[in-house]
Amino acid sequence: MARANGKIVLLGEHAVVYGVPAIAAGIERGVEARAELSPTSTLRIGQRSALPDDDSDLGRGFKALLEALGAPPVAVEATLELPPGSGLGASAALGVAIARAVISAAGQDSDTARVLSATAAWEGIYHGNPSGVDAAAAASDGCIWFERGAGMQPLALARDLILAIGLAGPPASTKAMVESVARLRERRPAVVNKALEGIRALVKNARLCLESGDMPGLGSLMNYNQMLLSGLFLSTEGIESCCALARDAGALGAKLTGAGGGGAVIALCDGDFEPILAVWREAGIECFGSRVRAQRVPA
Ligand code: PMV
Repeated sequence: MARANGKIVLLGEHAVVYGVPAIAAGIERGVEARAELSPTSTLRIGQRSALPDDDSDLGRGFKALLEALGAPPVAVEATLELPPGSGLGASAALGVAIARAVISAAGQDSDTARVLSATAAWEGIYHGNPSGVDAAAAASDGCIWFERGAGMQPLALARDLILAIGLAGPPASTKAMVESVARLRERRPAVVNKALEGIRALVKNARLCLESGDMPGLGSLMNYNQMLLSGLFLSTEGIESCCALARDAGALGAKLTGAGGGGAVIALCDGDFEPILAVWREAGIECFGSRVRAQRVPA
């Protein structure tokens, strides 16, 4: 059996596609996958199933992943513990967990680079232009600093991150949201590039906050990041009201996470996620809490 984490992007989504660093973290909920050698390759995820020759995204993604691994025929079963399309990295977590399960069924050597390149092939089908931040977070524990092309670096947190995660709206397509930013950038390059540079400054400062344990400082930077994402038309009324409810209930900061246009909001909590979850539940928002543990980074 193989597992992979879902993820949240703490700061830097979308800008990361254009080379700005992002900070992301794995969350406990993710994907579990099993694979065994079989006469033909099959994939089942809950009620959905696919063959590598199917003319569907699932079939094409599965085929791309198997080809990237050079794997023999395998029967794969995966269980998704995350809502898909909500910015919580469900598709990357599926790619990482399935790649790990296939590698182990085939008796091949598992190394992170192989898992990530198979996941990139899988994600390419769903996504169009993935920065790789989702796959990197799905394959690692704790909090990471990610830069497109340069890869990831684990971050040493001074304190645990206590997060409330709420589903602020119906799922949105990451591909469509990434394309909408690209179109806006073509039309108004100066405005979008200025927002991207603003996000770069926030991400750099957020790293200092994480390393020194300045949680109120981190929360403010998340709020500013949300404002810049709204300026790129990635927010919705549902996201804004979910953020406002969390801040009013004592969250240190709140923002959309992942692609936006719907999907999930994260709120940085001051010691306990329950008060934020209670307010969200009262408003009918599906939600859960997650803790990202401060971990020691090997020297
Ligand atoms: O796949 P999502 O919705 O979690 O978004 C990933 C983050 C983006 O920056 C929006 C896209 C990317 O590839 O980095």
